Amino acid sequence: MATQIKIFDTTLRDGEQTPGVNLNINEKLEVAKQLEKLGVDIIEAGFAIASPGDFEAVKAVAENIKNSTIASLCRAVEKDIDRAWEAVQYAKKPRIHTFLATSEIHLKYKLKMTEEEALQRAISMVKYAKKYCEDVEFSAEDASRTRIDFLYKVVEEVIKAGATVVNIPDTVGYSTPSEFGGLIKGIKNNVPNIDKVDISVHCHNDLGLAVANSLAAMVNGATQLECTINGLGERAGNASMEEIVMGLNTRKDYYKDITHNIDTVQIYRTSKLVSSLTGVNVQPNKAVVGANAFAHESGIHQHGVLSEKSTYEIMTPESIGLTQNRMVLGKLSGRHAFEERLKELGYSLSAEETQKAFEQFKGLADKKKEVSDRDIEALVKEKVSEIPEVFELDSFQISSGNRVIANSVISLKRNGNIISEAATGDGPVDAAFNAMDRLIGFSIELEEYSLKAVTEGKDALGEVTVKAFKDGKFFIGRGVSTDIVEASVKAYLNAINRIIAELGDSIISKN
Ligand code: KIV
Ligand code: ZN
Repeated sequence: MATQIKIFDTTLRDGEQTPGVNLNINEKLEVAKQLEKLGVDIIEAGFAIASPGDFEAVKAVAENIKNSTIASLCRAVEKDIDRAWEAVQYAKKPRIHTFLATSEIHLKYKLKMTEEEALQRAISMVKYAKKYCEDVEFSAEDASRTRIDFLYKVVEEVIKAGATVVNIPDTVGYSTPSEFGGLIKGIKNNVPNIDKVDISVHCHNDLGLAVANSLAAMVNGATQLECTINGLGERAGNASMEEIVMGLNTRKDYYKDITHNIDTVQIYRTSKLVSSLTGVNVQPNKAVVGANAFAHESGIHQHGVLSEKSTYEIMTPESIGLTQNRMVLGKLSGRHAFEERLKELGYSLSAEETQKAFEQFKGLADKKKEVSDRDIEALVKEKVSEIPEVFELDSFQISSGNRVIANSVISLKRNGNIISEAATGDGPVDAAFNAMDRLIGFSIELEEYSLKAVTEGKDALGEVTVKAFKDGKFFIGRGVSTDIVEASVKAYLNAINRIIAELGDSIISKN
């Protein structure tokens, strides 16, 4: 009989705990909508009590997503559970996900509790959550380092208290596949009421084993796998969803009779969206979604693939929605062709967004002979998660050279007025950023700057991502243009507008 595996995505919660990642509410909603399209069974939308922003984001996701269950994480504490319920109650399918550490090391040094106290707390908090919500998940944090008899006891008792899902996290990524598989098997064999619930696993990737551990757990009885897009998450991250799912599909012969609800064709888009919104680039050699995942460099490999793809390709790019450039658009391409291409690439934009994207496409086609799918994706990505433009770019003029000091004049529009400043710098980008710093009237720290070409060729679009730090938070800014200085200016301005959108325009002290 086939076993249906549930995919629990925690990109918006554990994934957002990736150092330097900070998504605003619209961005979280955008990701949640894409996860729903992908077919994720459960979306963990955040940790409602962590901040008012987290709370609002969980609530917005709960109100807008209809097909996936929406979970909020909470400690096993009444006020956390209250807040989680306040946020997820609007969901069509709400879930409260409460957790308590159970390992000796966490009990002794972090919680300062005995095993008996932890057991009673777990039972009473599951009962408390159950008063609000039928679907309650309990996680025994650091389960893989928990004394085994105690873990069995906790699992049995939280099920009696009403838990519908029991999660066994490998919180510090310490386990190995055979050991972790054995742990799940042990739970199956030693917890008398285990068949009443889904066994879930949540594996971290500190030793690079998160996906292997998750799959080993599944083979031994886990029916819910917790994971993130691109493997984002605390420290070395969580098990990567795309690797788990493509593992299941590609090795159907091995993972027999396992089914899941993921529409793999949405994987590539989801990965791109998450990487662009979080500012965390996917390493080129990353399995499934890395830029080189389907590239064949060596002559022998190329020859093999040309004769018969299966010689070196175990899955097709199309299966993850990575389309080949079937049609290249140019300056004579009309609106209809552009809209068709957008649809084929999986975008469903509003009329206004389509109009903006089309105008940008026309502008690009004037500068670039051929506009490829990657170019279109870059243009559309710029539109996703647009924020109010308190400052708009009016014009810039920059000069630099090896015998002169780089200098810039930047003009921005604010409330219909043009304001301008000049500055020098180490190079053209630095000079431009310095002039903008003067214009905005507040200081920001630039933490990261990265530039990459969207496609090959001298006329390629340059995509700049900046990460700025302000008041204890990171803000990502993105800009694309065939002119890399312009892309840089746009990216910095985008980060500035994001900061204002989140912290309020009272931070602007002059102009
Ligand atoms: O890693 C972990 O143990 C967690 C739990 C809160 C599920 O993220
Ligand atoms: Zn975790």
